[in-house]
Amino acid sequence: AIAVDPKGSGAKIDDTMYGVFFEDINRAADGGLYAELVQNRSFEYATADNTSYTPLTSWNTSGTADVVSDDGRLNARNRSYLALGGDSSVTNSGYNTGIAVESGKVYDFSVWARADQADPLSVTLHDTDGDLARARRVTVRGGWAKYTARFTAGRTSTTGRLTVAAAGAVALDMVSLIPHDTYMGHGLRKDLAEKIAALHPGFVRFPGGCLVNTGSMRGYDEASGYERKRSYQWKDTIGPVEQRATNANFWGYNQSYGLGYYEYFQFAEDTGAMPLPVVPALVTGCGQNKAVDDDALLERHIQDTLDLIEFANGPVTSEWGRKRARMGHPEPFHLTHLEVGNEENLPDEFFARFTRFRAAIEAKYPDVTVISNAGPDDSGPTFDTAWKLNRDADVDMVDEHYYNSPQWFLQNNDRYDAYDRNGPKVFLGEYASGGNTFKNALAEAAYMTGLERNADVVKLASYAPLLANEDYVQWRPDMIWFDNHASWGSADYEVQKLFMTNTGDRVVPSTASGTPALSGPISGAVGLSTWATTAAYDDVRVTGEDGTTLLGDDFSGDASRWTHTGGGSWSVEDGQYVQSDVAAENTMVSAGDPAWHDYDLRVKATKKSGK
Ligand code: AHR
Repeated sequence: AIAVDPKGSGAKIDDTMYGVFFEDINRAADGGLYAELVQNRSFEYATADNTSYTPLTSWNTSGTADVVSDDGRLNARNRSYLALGGDSSVTNSGYNTGIAVESGKVYDFSVWARADQADPLSVTLHDTDGDLARARRVTVRGGWAKYTARFTAGRTSTTGRLTVAAAGAVALDMVSLIPHDTYMGHGLRKDLAEKIAALHPGFVRFPGGCLVNTGSMRGYDEASGYERKRSYQWKDTIGPVEQRATNANFWGYNQSYGLGYYEYFQFAEDTGAMPLPVVPALVTGCGQNKAVDDDALLERHIQDTLDLIEFANGPVTSEWGRKRARMGHPEPFHLTHLEVGNEENLPDEFFARFTRFRAAIEAKYPDVTVISNAGPDDSGPTFDTAWKLNRDADVDMVDEHYYNSPQWFLQNNDRYDAYDRNGPKVFLGEYASGGNTFKNALAEAAYMTGLERNADVVKLASYAPLLANEDYVQWRPDMIWFDNHASWGSADYEVQKLFMTNTGDRVVPSTASGTPALSGPISGAVGLSTWATTAAYDDVRVTGEDGTTLLGDDFSGDASRWTHTGGGSWSVEDGQYVQSDVAAENTMVSAGDPAWHDYDLRVKATKKSGK
């Protein structure tokens, strides 16, 4: 039975409480929300991004076609280009099964090219059944210039290819094909953007996640080029796309930055959400445990962060406000919250740096809320140290992350009932219950009632990750799934939508009685992400069907990252949770070996007492 006290005064719920966390993981950006259909459009893929990559990844060539990196390049930030000989061609295969086009829809082609002598290029869109649109011809003449053409698809196909053929020698770069019809005309894939917009998110946290806190802050250097694995730096991601130096992505692929900070701000505005960027704190979180870069780089990066706030909010007369205006947005983007760092494993080192960021931001922008974090776990020594540091320094808001089992979410509904009402507020920036089944969604919904009941403490919450291209998965579960032409929301998506589109104004106090007691684990995922495991389970062993230990209780063995979609059946044996007959969709990937392996697994774990 539920007893409701309509006159009681519960917590006020902010309109911004439920939002989304967009990270470029699972090809969420290139090959996902960014509408570009050509993969590796600027021939910048490199082995630093992924050991299987070459500058011609996703291209087929015929005749003479060489990727060159010399002084003849398009610009210093776009290091490589394609030198195509006479009577030669290149063909791009897009993402997933190919370039997807829809009958009657318009597609905008563009290319940067140069040719010593006037050279006609023939551009065709086709699949194995023939042409998908009438072929186009552009004539290249002289130095680097952008050429455009437009296709109207005569047929629908999900296996399209784009071919550029040259009669004479020509240099090509930034070969692009984008649907003319993008979300609000701002270059984002419509079905995906619309699914996110349908949530009515209160905020958009971006761009990561682990994506942001790895590598060095060293940036582009005129003389030597740029670090191929530098950390995510917002200044790399704005301005003309052909001048955005692509970079290795934390998740093992290349990021074009076609979806960059300007586009993120614009997307937040288009969906009515508050923008919430995360900048690296120069301590590598996500299990890497090391501080990188010296004081000078730290200072530079703190200045970059101040510049970011100016880019978002500054007047058009300011240096960075002017750049925003030149990109097409003279009005400010109304940035009010900014997060420094993500899942920091070294709370002391992180906090020393966070404090410097915060002091600089507060001195110049006292109205901006600077968000800290509590590390990668839901509890434990790192979590406790981080919280103590945050509390003692009177930090405004702390980001917590946890990926646990449905059972954990059911059992921890009261987590925030005991939080200090006068301490830092909580941003639950990432959470998920280890699967995309109805049970997972139900457990998350139940948990969200606990968040809402504590809306005076928990000010923001976002499920994670948001997007997954089904052919390039680094992390499961995910809220919205897609391939090159279709997208579908999970059960978890429906729960998020339910809460986000029905956010109340205040909590009406209620009490439940007669709730059935929970016993034993429910089937579904145990939440064995590396960090969730360390936080909530002891004596975790993951074995393959042949008995090989894949993951020992000290995390030795092959695993640097572990995800699975659940499945299998649960039992309790000798005080341990045992998940057996786990389906083949269980996957494990190690840092040194980017390939995915399917294992038939047996998972054994003991839940830590009190968790
Ligand atoms: O959401 C996926 C990853 O989970 C994020 O990048 C990271 O912050 C967390 O470990």
